[in-house]
Amino acid sequence: MARKKVTVQALQAKKAAGEPITMITAYDYPTALAVDRAGVDVILVGDSLGMVVLGYPNTLPVTMEEMLHHAKAVARANPAALLVGDLPFMAYQADVAEAVRNAGRFLKEAGMDAVKLEGGREMVPTVAAIVRAGIPVMGHIGLTPQSVHKLGGYRLQGRTAADARRLLEDALALEAAGCFAIVLEMVPEPVAAVITERLRIPTIGIGAGPGCNGQVLVLHDLIGLFDRFTPRFVKKYADLHGEIVRAVQAYCDDVRHRRFPGPEHTFPMDPEEWAAFRAMLEATPLPTTDTKGRP
Ligand code: KIV
Repeated sequence: MARKKVTVQALQAKKAAGEPITMITAYDYPTALAVDRAGVDVILVGDSLGMVVLGYPNTLPVTMEEMLHHAKAVARANPAALLVGDLPFMAYQADVAEAVRNAGRFLKEAGMDAVKLEGGREMVPTVAAIVRAGIPVMGHIGLTPQSVHKLGGYRLQGRTAADARRLLEDALALEAAGCFAIVLEMVPEPVAAVITERLRIPTIGIGAGPGCNGQVLVLHDLIGLFDRFTPRFVKKYADLHGEIVRAVQAYCDDVRHRRFPGPEHTFPMDPEEWAAFRAMLEATPLPTTDTKGRP
């Protein structure tokens, strides 16, 4: 039976009912089909695709056009999960009107249901303007990878009492601006738990402990398809990189030893047509060529 479409309101009802929210990234049609069939609540077309799909060193080079290209492929799977498009670096920081236009492109051109952006209180006017345009916004605080150079690396955030307080204030400001949920990335567990208690909207944690209302992981980390590094907060449920290497090695081995293709992969010819073809070949011998392919 087809699943009911997940809405922003359904996520808020899950928080109220104390039911954990599941979120995962997907970047293309087949992975969107698979994660939706697995029953995930939210699919994030994250700008992490820059690293795990496009091979960039970080998320900074990712463009709106790249995000839309991948978001469209995900939407073609017609998932029941809520679809969130991640605004890439410099698609929303410089100008509020440009942020609204880029957020709108995710819904209008790529079939997303909502957008996500990184940043705390400084993003309040931007969030409020996008929400005013009728577009649901997910916030993202703590470790915000688009600010990796400002933060001095991919480090735990909110470690001191003052930093933890700033994070809580950022979360409250984003909620007041109209965010429907907030991602908390790499934040100490008790800080994430307090923020979760103080907010009416759900928190989705990544490296923020079990006290959040939901959890998100990058799909390619979870299935072991990205093997450059694995952050400590990732639980690897499969080793697809290893599986691909093993499968392609077996294929190469079969081809080299003439075990593939077998009769079951090969198309026979109708015997009468084959006999006619042979007769034709004998009647009109083809021009011979020398070993260099010359007539
Ligand atoms: O881009 C992304 O995948 C993300 C998640 C890690 C939350 O922002």
